[in-house]
Amino acid sequence: MSVKDTVLRILEEKKGETISGQRIATEAGASRAAVWKAISLLREEGHIISATKNRGYTLSESSDLLSSEGIHAFCREIKADQIHCYKVLDSTNTMAKKMATSEKSGLALVVAEEQTSGRGRMGRSFYSPQSTGIYMSLLIKPIFDISKSVLVTTAASVAVCRAIEDVLGIHCQVKWVNDIYLDEKKVGGILTEGITDFESGQIEYIVIGIGINYIAPENGFPEELHHIAGSLLPFSASMSSGERRSRNLIIGSIAAQLLQLLKSLNPDEFLAEYKERSLILGHTVTFFYPKSGQTEARQGVAVDIDPEGGLLIRQEDGDIITLNSGEVTIRRI
Ligand code: BTN
Repeated sequence: MSVKDTVLRILEEKKGETISGQRIATEAGASRAAVWKAISLLREEGHIISATKNRGYTLSESSDLLSSEGIHAFCREIKADQIHCYKVLDSTNTMAKKMATSEKSGLALVVAEEQTSGRGRMGRSFYSPQSTGIYMSLLIKPIFDISKSVLVTTAASVAVCRAIEDVLGIHCQVKWVNDIYLDEKKVGGILTEGITDFESGQIEYIVIGIGINYIAPENGFPEELHHIAGSLLPFSASMSSGERRSRNLIIGSIAAQLLQLLKSLNPDEFLAEYKERSLILGHTVTFFYPKSGQTEARQGVAVDIDPEGGLLIRQEDGDIITLNSGEVTIRRI
């Protein structure tokens, strides 16, 4: 790891605190002059680092650039060189899929400040403006029984909500399957994709893409998203306001929570919480059900989530059916 990267890791771990040049030099195994040079390079990249004579260097709380070191500081399970940060990408999921062939370890995290073609479920796009959102994709080689892979998205929803609650103290809800909601507005979504081995037909890799509207865009959401989209914090949440935390911290916390749940993918570790956070259980919902090669709109009450992550719906005739994929909307009365 370069001196610059090591210095950044040390500063990220103690963000907002002043650390002496000598201490940084000792921890980095470098000379004071090399530390000074590294600080200059980091400043050139846009990190806000102040220097106080005879005291040392401080990475400002308001410094919010994405960095591998910054994320690694909060998620030790992923090495810094397995974390790939980009200023702009078409889609972090697309990039993570490309990496599946080159990442021998089978683990990578791809993040971007901005996406030009962010992808959502069902062929939709995901609005991904610069610097106000979190756009991350975790590439894993599954070690759990592949029959459980449908639960990945359910576990990911819980991991995202847990991390947001831990770091920001904000309680989010989940709309089946994987939409993250706050105050009845969608603030995030998850797109899980499998990479299948052509010969065996088995899922070899899974990409879990997570998008979160962190700070409201300065000029608001585009017209077509006004009624649906929200953000975790208002635009006025400046880094110094006290309520805002760095995106590196949030991304690292989400990745750590997610990797913990993926170790065994045991529903006992997340299903009860998924249900507690559900926005739809107990509500009448509209959904599309397959019939004679087509789909028809139906209504029913969402009554439970089964251990495979399927949604149980009691229809008007009393029959209970299970939805394993698709989407529901809440019927407002
Ligand atoms: C949805 O709401 O339908 C899912 C949205 C998933 C968006 C994330 S942003 C990071 C990753 N890259 C993408 O292109 N999509 C996912």
